[in-house]
Amino acid sequence: MGFILAATGSAIGLGNLWKFPFITWENDGGAFVLVYLVCIAAVGLPIMMAELLVGRKSQKSAVGALKEVVGPLWGSLGLWGVLCGFVLLSYYTVIAGWSLYYFAKSSSWLINGFPTGTNMGDLFGAQSGNGALQLGLSLAFSIATVSVVYFGVQKGIERIAKLFLPVLFGILVLLLISALGMSGSGEALRFIFRPNFAELDRASVLEALGHSFFTLSLGMGAMITYGSYISKNQSIVKASAIIVVLDTLIALIATVIMFSVIFSVPGMDQQVSGTGTVGMLFISLPELFFTEVPFGQVLGPLFYVLVALAALTSTMSLLEVVASYVIDNHGIARNKATLMCGGVIFLFTILAAVSFGAVPAITDLQLGGALGDMFFGGKVGWFGMADHFVSNWMLPTGGLGITIAAGWVVSREITKSELVDGTQPGWFSYGAWRFFIRYVAPVAVGAILIAVIFFGRDFS
Ligand code: PFF
Repeated sequence: MGFILAATGSAIGLGNLWKFPFITWENDGGAFVLVYLVCIAAVGLPIMMAELLVGRKSQKSAVGALKEVVGPLWGSLGLWGVLCGFVLLSYYTVIAGWSLYYFAKSSSWLINGFPTGTNMGDLFGAQSGNGALQLGLSLAFSIATVSVVYFGVQKGIERIAKLFLPVLFGILVLLLISALGMSGSGEALRFIFRPNFAELDRASVLEALGHSFFTLSLGMGAMITYGSYISKNQSIVKASAIIVVLDTLIALIATVIMFSVIFSVPGMDQQVSGTGTVGMLFISLPELFFTEVPFGQVLGPLFYVLVALAALTSTMSLLEVVASYVIDNHGIARNKATLMCGGVIFLFTILAAVSFGAVPAITDLQLGGALGDMFFGGKVGWFGMADHFVSNWMLPTGGLGITIAAGWVVSREITKSELVDGTQPGWFSYGAWRFFIRYVAPVAVGAILIAVIFFGRDFS
């Protein structure tokens, strides 16, 4: 139970609450959501099983596990994952910090009343461009992450997941009930669940695929590391199904909530389209909670608690990937390793934190030329460059490596004995899994990489 909640907590994060609703918006809903669900089932689920089985088989963290189960050279794939965890955590913490700011802000509005007439875009710009504030917020979030991982898997990670996930579900259900009562909920449900294939293009399909890696925490060894905490009498197949279903459900519920609010206010859809990914969560919604949503004064602060909790259960899994590597491969004690890794990663968080206007040289940083375009998508600023590189290069290449390892290198006997061990549910077919992991997943992930290399696609 502790493991399943921890892994679900890793999967549920800013990807569900911040990225998914916005890319659903940009890609015109319905058909995109359907394609996303197919990607989750056909690519995400088989890779989730593959990562967990490598972890459980070896009972080791990413690098050691890949070396033992796949082969000595495959340790480098694990190292690539550790590096990816490092970079991802360094900037993810900054957005997580924003949830603390909006929690504090909306709590103060709850007490002192909402200052009508405030320009929320300006408020957002002022907070994200304030270097000292950004450093403070991301330091607070880093300390929270380090504190959990410091206490280890059972006393830290699993305990926090057990405590926070039920709270997160509870808040989400409250918000959903409130949102479904709003006038825009019918339109929101139609937008999300009624497919219109005329709106779908190849780019949307690849974006859905790229996001399925990010949202399920795949492609960087997080699920290998968490898999090493599963006991032999627990079913990998059932665990994978539960994690994938819960993650998807939360993303869909969050989207229904946000769109119901947005569609209830005339003209709001134009504003949302104009403010980009950060806009929906941190510019449009804070005000709408206070002006439109029934009980929004209370639900608003609760919503940002939800974002913070979801982010924390993800950041702790990212730090665990890096720290467990140092613990297992360099023989350093957990408390020291956690502080050390947390400290070094924070140095890079500083760069991400000041890349929203506080330090012009970092905000305007750009790598020009063909290479800059290919690896960083022409993104400006440290944050955008790091996010682009992780989402477009690190996760897909890591994911491709894992599908090849599990489908083509590890023997059929090993994967079969891990997946078909008497604990698997009746619906599971090993033959189908093997087909998906050998053919469907690598072709799909290969398509993302080809799209990035040859067509300049951006999945961040
Ligand atoms: N799955 C997380 C999200 O959706 O926000 C992001 C993430 C966490 C990716 C942990 C990878 C990881 F190892």
